[in-house]
Amino acid sequence: MYASRPCAQVAIDTASREAQAHETMTAPVQKATPDAIAEAADILRRGGLVAVPTETVYGLAVDAANPDAVARLYEVKGRPRFNPLIAHVNGPEMAKREAVLEGAAAFAAGFYWPGPLTLVLPAAPSGRVCDLARAGLDTIALRHPSHSVAHDLVTVFGGPLVAPSANPSGRISPVTARDVAADLGDGIDLILDGGRCPVGIESTIVSFVGDPPELLRPGGLDPAALERFLSVSLARPGDETASPRAPGQLARHYAPNAQLRLNAVSAQADEVLLGFGPVAGASANLSPRGNLAEAAANLFAMLRWLDGRHERIAISPIPQEGLGEAINDRLRRAAAR
Ligand code: TXA
Ligand code: MG
Repeated sequence: MYASRPCAQVAIDTASREAQAHETMTAPVQKATPDAIAEAADILRRGGLVAVPTETVYGLAVDAANPDAVARLYEVKGRPRFNPLIAHVNGPEMAKREAVLEGAAAFAAGFYWPGPLTLVLPAAPSGRVCDLARAGLDTIALRHPSHSVAHDLVTVFGGPLVAPSANPSGRISPVTARDVAADLGDGIDLILDGGRCPVGIESTIVSFVGDPPELLRPGGLDPAALERFLSVSLARPGDETASPRAPGQLARHYAPNAQLRLNAVSAQADEVLLGFGPVAGASANLSPRGNLAEAAANLFAMLRWLDGRHERIAISPIPQEGLGEAINDRLRRAAAR
C-alpha cells in the first residue's frame, strides 16, 4: 500500500504548483496540454492517481496492471472492493490483448467505439489488468473513450488504465475538473482539466458474456440504438440490487445530501424544482426544450449545484425512453434513502 500522495513530489515541478498543493492540500489541476498528458503518464508509471476527462464523466485513472495503485484507488474512492473497474483502452488492438472480443461484441465495438459504451467480456489470458482491478472476476469491462485527452493518455501511457468515475463512492459523478478537486482533490496526484464532459452521464455497460447480451447499466449510449444495431433485445437484470456483478448498482448510489422527490409536477413550499421540459417555476432545468441528451449532460452538474444550496429537490418526470432510462436510473438511486 502506498503512503499518501507518493507521486506528488515528482508531479509538481514548478514553485507555484508546489505552493498550491501544499497550501490547499488539493491535487494540482493542469490544462490538458500534450506536456501535461506526458507528465500524467509519468505519474501513472510511478503508481500515481490522475483524474482525466472522458466524454462521459471525469475518471480517476491508475495503471491497470499495478495492484498497489489499484488498491490506493479503491482507498481514495472509499469503494467496496467487490466492485470491479472499467479498463480504458485506445482501440480494438489493445482491447484484444485484454479480452475475448469477437462476434456481436466486436461488431458493437466496431460501430460504437470510441464512445460511451462499455463491454463486459471474458478476460484474456494475455491480459495485463490485475486481479484486484477485476475484483477477482474472470470477466473484464473495457471501454475506448472518445474524449481526446483520455484516448491520448492511454496511448502515451502505453497500456490500459482503469478509471472509475472520480467521485467518492456513492456520490455524484464529476463532470468538471473543479468537481473532482472539490470531492477528491487531496487524494490524487494530478487533475487534467479538459473542460466539461460533453455526455455528462456514465457509459452504457453491456455484458457479452452470455447470450443474449445483457444491459448492466443504461448510460450515455441509448440501449435501444444498440438493440436496433445488433437486432437483439438486451436482457435486463431482474433484480439489480441483489446482483453485485451488476455495475456499482447498490440501491442508493449517486447520492446527493438533499432529499429528492421524483416525478414531481411542481415544487411544494419547502422544495426547489429541477425541471425538464417547459415547466414553470423551476430553479434549474435539465432541458427546457425536453431534449434527453441535453438533460443527461446537465444532470450531475445541476444536481450538484442544487444539492449545495437546498435540502429538498423536486424533479420533473423524465420520459423512460432513450437516454431517459439512464437518467431515471441515476435519479432513483440518488433518491433512495
Ligand atoms: O463512463 C464511464 O463508464 C466512467 C468513465 C470514467 O469511463 N466510468 C465509470 O466507472 O462509470 P465506475 O467504476 O464508476 O463504474 C463502472 C461499473 C461498476 O459499477 C462495475 O460494477 C462495473 O462497471 N463493472 C466493471 N467490471 C465489471 C465486470 N467484469 N462485470 C460486470 N460489471 C462490471
Ligand atoms: Mg461511478
